[in-house]
Amino acid sequence: MKLWGRAKVFRRRMLCLWLLLLGFALVTLALSDLFNRDRENSYLKPGPPRRPLQRVPNPPDLEVVDYQDDALEFVVDLSPLNSLQEDQLLFVRSMQGTKSLPQRKGTYKVLLPVTNKHTTPATPTHGEMGKAVQLHLEGVERDKELSAAQKYGFNEVGSERISLHRRLPETRHPKCLGEQYSESLPSASVVICFHDEAWSTLLRTVHSVLDTTPKQHLREVLLVDDLSQHGHLKSVLSEYVSHLDGVHLIRSTKRLGVGGCRSLGAARAAGEVLVFMDSHCECQKGWLEPLLERVAQDRTRVVSPIMDVIDWQTFQYNATQWPVKGVFDWRLDFYWESKSQLQEKDPGFDIEPVRSPALGVGVLAIDRHFFQSVGAYDPGMLLWGAEQIELSIRVWSCGGSMEVVPCSRVAHLDRHHLPYRFPDEQLQKNKIRIADTWMDTYRKIFYRRDTLAHFIRQSESPNITERLQLKKSLGCRNFQWYLTTVYPQLYIPQDRTGLSGELYNVGTSSCADYPREHGLKGGSMNIAPCSGTGSQHCDLNSEGEVRWGPMGSLCLDTKGQQVILSPCLNPRPTASRLQWKFIKLSGQLVHQQSQLCLEAVKDRGPPHSNSVQPKQVSTRSSVGGLFMRPCTHHPRQQWHFEQLVAPKGT
Ligand SMILES: *[C@@H]1O[C@H](CO)[C@@H](O)[C@H](O)[C@H]1NC(C)=O
Ligand SMILES: *[C@@H]1O[C@H](CO)[C@@H](O)[C@H](O)[C@H]1NC(C)=O
Repeated sequence: MKLWGRAKVFRRRMLCLWLLLLGFALVTLALSDLFNRDRENSYLKPGPPRRPLQRVPNPPDLEVVDYQDDALEFVVDLSPLNSLQEDQLLFVRSMQGTKSLPQRKGTYKVLLPVTNKHTTPATPTHGEMGKAVQLHLEGVERDKELSAAQKYGFNEVGSERISLHRRLPETRHPKCLGEQYSESLPSASVVICFHDEAWSTLLRTVHSVLDTTPKQHLREVLLVDDLSQHGHLKSVLSEYVSHLDGVHLIRSTKRLGVGGCRSLGAARAAGEVLVFMDSHCECQKGWLEPLLERVAQDRTRVVSPIMDVIDWQTFQYNATQWPVKGVFDWRLDFYWESKSQLQEKDPGFDIEPVRSPALGVGVLAIDRHFFQSVGAYDPGMLLWGAEQIELSIRVWSCGGSMEVVPCSRVAHLDRHHLPYRFPDEQLQKNKIRIADTWMDTYRKIFYRRDTLAHFIRQSESPNITERLQLKKSLGCRNFQWYLTTVYPQLYIPQDRTGLSGELYNVGTSSCADYPREHGLKGGSMNIAPCSGTGSQHCDLNSEGEVRWGPMGSLCLDTKGQQVILSPCLNPRPTASRLQWKFIKLSGQLVHQQSQLCLEAVKDRGPPHSNSVQPKQVSTRSSVGGLFMRPCTHHPRQQWHFEQLVAPKGT
């Protein structure tokens, strides 16, 4: 009996196992069939996904989850898209036009994240979305406990007081107001990625797009949640979004970072033109049409509006001065460069788009097919940092162009700090990918100015195989072409051996330094402990200029006895005022015009007592810095260029 019983159990188990296997095989078959078939019948209901979906604590009836297969357009041969697993996605479809909220009071309370119990009575301020807003307000009150500014990098409490529908003051050029745009402009998908964005800024971004965009040009707004943790971005947001026409919410179950998140949104987008937008923007009226028109005229053109600024503290709107261009320096940091001296002269110039060596990450419009064919965003660049530089070099080098369109304006909230932490080296790793993929031998210039990147690169190489293949298959031009044709304004350092590096002073054992906050306008030089990071790198070139900083646009200059930096003269040859000569034997750096020597004076500290005290030099001054003094052989006038990265390295 016992034996027979066991055999029966065993047989039953085997049967179950076989049934399971059979079932699995059938599901697999059905799935592969569905993927290969024409995608007209769109709602794919696969068995349980291979990875558990990251479900937020909410009842399933609120979050409409499905796999909207028809919205997908996989482009063959394209790695960025292949890397996006379907089962990492949740897609919340808009319940279009449904203005009444489902009445299920009983379950609503459950939706709120339970991490923080303490709540204070809510004050209704918006009242436009009824329940969802009220629910949200409880979250807001809770959030206030944390210092909002600390949490978000801007004054979030102040932002809450501002309407989600505020209008920006008119700052467009008067000529822009009379511009006519074709009725048949391509349609746009606005892709807004967010990670732990504040409620008010995120929703103001969405409403601002909806409020300023003609319906016929806006195909959809795709909100892509890059694995946010904050409670208000979960079911409350899903609920809110489900009542907005043409707004869809996609959630990733994996942290993708800026590039990955945007590539995901792009893969889901149906509009002809993609508009990538940061999650804390406000659009000026009529911002979209000028962008669409420029892209429609040339599908390889990538365009940006003028990026105005929203103050992180006051939420005041500040218009950016035109003309403005996107540029970057040899540390691969991006800047908007607003040049007022470029203005005037050409009467048409004020509303003509301006070609730009790079464009920022804030808002970018690009033809969807061009975006995919030029390689989307580099999937190897993780989290955040420098993806706009990579895209810019690639677009230009591989057949496209970039410009800023002045009749389009979008304001971007410039945060005080980034509210979340990245591994310290992530930014450098992204930059290393750019340097190694796109900069050819010019990458050495980068590594000398970012020694952290240099040392990371020494211990690990990025896998850029696929990007190099892409570069080759697209027939992209080299970096020298980019520098001479697209970005000739960028100074190309010479970095000669023994005449470049940190400018080390023997007498004070410190390095010549320039406080970064003085910016690109120039200011007085100082001395500081040698940083070793490349931030104090300078370059005495064959014209005799001592070029400073990652842009190389500032020159060592004098103002009375003081040594300052001022913008280098363009075009060269330079003025003799900016010319220096380094005498290797004595370590003296001699100013050519005055024949005086560069001397370091330490802050506050009393003059050195041990060594030869030169008669003429008074060091009683309590202010440290760099000064012009008659030449002596005092160690404070002895310098050498410390090369941190060997010239042959990397
Ligand atoms: C905006 O402008 C005001 C006054 O013009 C200025 O004080 C403030 O710093 C500006 N904010 C930003 C972010 O530029
Ligand atoms: C680099 O990536 C390619 C394609 O993604 C892969 O085939 C290759 O094995 C990788 N190489 C290394 C060294 O990991």
